[in-house]
Amino acid sequence: MCGIMGYIGNGNAVPVIIDGLSKLEYRGYDSAGIAIYKPSQEKKQQPLLVDQKGEPETSGSAIIEYEDAYIEIIKKKGRLTEMIEVLGEFPTTSLAIGHTRWATHGVPSDANAHPHTDCSGRIALVHNGIIENYAGLRKQLILEGHDFVSETDTEVMVHLIEKYYNGSLEEAVRKALTYVHGSFAIVVICADEPDKIIAAKKASPMIVGLGEGETFLASDIPAIIGKTKRVYIIEDDEFVVIKSDSVVITDFEGNPIAKEIFEVTWDVEAAEKGGYEHFMLKEIHEQPTALRETLRGNIKNNMIDLSDLGIDDIFTDVEKIYIVACGTAYHAGLVGRTVLEKLARISVETDIASEFRYRDILWNPHSVMMVISQSGETADTLAVLREAKRNGIKVLAVTNVVGSSVAREADRVIYTHAGPEIAVASTKAYSTQLLVMYLLGLHLARVRGTCSPQELAELAEEITHIDELVEQVLTEEDKIKKLAEKYQGVQDTFFLGRGLDYAVAMEGALKLKEISYIHAEAYAAGELKHGPLALIDEGVPVLALITQDNLVEKTMSNIKEVKARGAVVVAICKENLQEACQECDEQILLPNVNPILAPMVSVVPLQIFSYYMAIFRGADVDKPRNLAKSVTVE
Ligand code: F6R
Repeated sequence: MCGIMGYIGNGNAVPVIIDGLSKLEYRGYDSAGIAIYKPSQEKKQQPLLVDQKGEPETSGSAIIEYEDAYIEIIKKKGRLTEMIEVLGEFPTTSLAIGHTRWATHGVPSDANAHPHTDCSGRIALVHNGIIENYAGLRKQLILEGHDFVSETDTEVMVHLIEKYYNGSLEEAVRKALTYVHGSFAIVVICADEPDKIIAAKKASPMIVGLGEGETFLASDIPAIIGKTKRVYIIEDDEFVVIKSDSVVITDFEGNPIAKEIFEVTWDVEAAEKGGYEHFMLKEIHEQPTALRETLRGNIKNNMIDLSDLGIDDIFTDVEKIYIVACGTAYHAGLVGRTVLEKLARISVETDIASEFRYRDILWNPHSVMMVISQSGETADTLAVLREAKRNGIKVLAVTNVVGSSVAREADRVIYTHAGPEIAVASTKAYSTQLLVMYLLGLHLARVRGTCSPQELAELAEEITHIDELVEQVLTEEDKIKKLAEKYQGVQDTFFLGRGLDYAVAMEGALKLKEISYIHAEAYAAGELKHGPLALIDEGVPVLALITQDNLVEKTMSNIKEVKARGAVVVAICKENLQEACQECDEQILLPNVNPILAPMVSVVPLQIFSYYMAIFRGADVDKPRNLAKSVTVE
């Protein structure tokens, strides 16, 4: 969602803002803008005295006039490069703020792009989030004589600040904040106070980066990682005044808040493409490394052992686990349900966060809420976490981002250690989330005695080598690319599977639709004939996941049903099941693996297939239309 960047200091703000915004592009956006502080300038002088030839005389004095300092706004619908084109040569200034907008209120347009200014143009503001009560405020401010030029909810905020501005930007912002409801990270500057940037946060991410004689503000760490690794992570209801050499953090009322500096441990390379054409392809290939990182430290005496993570106490009398998440993370949670129920024998309910939060839950007091979120900032997931806590339920977060809202607010955290995931389509975050499900399942199974030591040891052994199996699947890239080339022109696709294969089918279909814009449906293979079979027609590709040894025959019956209606079937099957899948038109073979672990390998061909389908169709793989990496609004 929207990306925010701010800079004040002794360097040139404009290239820093542009660079930061480009690093935030992965969040998804449809327009970009920048507010540049232009210091007071000496006006061009006409010489007072000229000689007969019209040459200036050296004697005589001119009255030097100064143009007022002002804020220049450049903003443009479309990609950042289009805004940069309008900007032209970068001006030099010590202060600027920038924004990439992901439209919520008002279409993507130049006028709706941020920054927004007050009527005088002397105050400029960027915002990530939603001002929920903007309609009433807007009406009131218009009655009071304010001119609105956009359809956004954001614009009310800057007019409110104007209303209360009386020589102190800080006071005006504090006052304005008392009138707004919703979620926001706002960053404000004023032409009359060029020594500071004011920022405030409620439910939308924001960090402050500390440099030498320069200070940064951003929505996320990749925006500033090339400049500094020392950051403050701003929490909800915090108010920040930054200058080039100081940062003061208070609550909205002005009470000081002491905060520790967070040292970022990863580097610029980790957030860059490293020779790959797209972040998505790089992240697909990073999966073996990411899995090794997730596994690190969690094997003791050849057994999966998470005791060092300090999570055991919340599971002592557990009767039920709720797993709640969105999108790909939800799909990891579906695998988690099967894994935890089978291995640890705990009843698990997995649900989508945006649904769960509005259900009237019959909370089991002996339950644990597990939220899964790559970014740790997803609004619906965060809302569920808070609802669970309000009901006295302990929350375990599975997240990739250290210091994210989910990580900070949960009672316990397991980090996925996937490293920064930049492509909007999640790949390595998903596989590391899956791995955490297995680690937790095996750990709880050991603690609860629900699996035999031999079974635990065998699965631990296979998990130790899962990175190698994923590497093996990655070597099939060319074959999968050819398949994508062959099917690039299709309109509709189906993904089928049973049990864990169905969970992976859902993830495969999501990947394909989000980046290639091809219609993709995932169906439980046995459910097909209850309706969707009507959609199967001549030449429709069906990707069938066949990794569950005990369900092969059942799935094959369903495959026969679709083949009989003209579908072309691509089987993603384990080597040992190849024989049973002979009737499929194409086969992508997976290494033999215990069926319960199969999702770890079977998802990889689907990721590669989606990637190349998008490439062949000319889609913007890393930044698919309409989507955002970090979904910080409901
Ligand atoms: C799809 C994808 C999304 C996210 C979802 C949740 O590839 O990335 O479906 O999984 O928006 O995001 P997080 O995990 O950050 O809560």
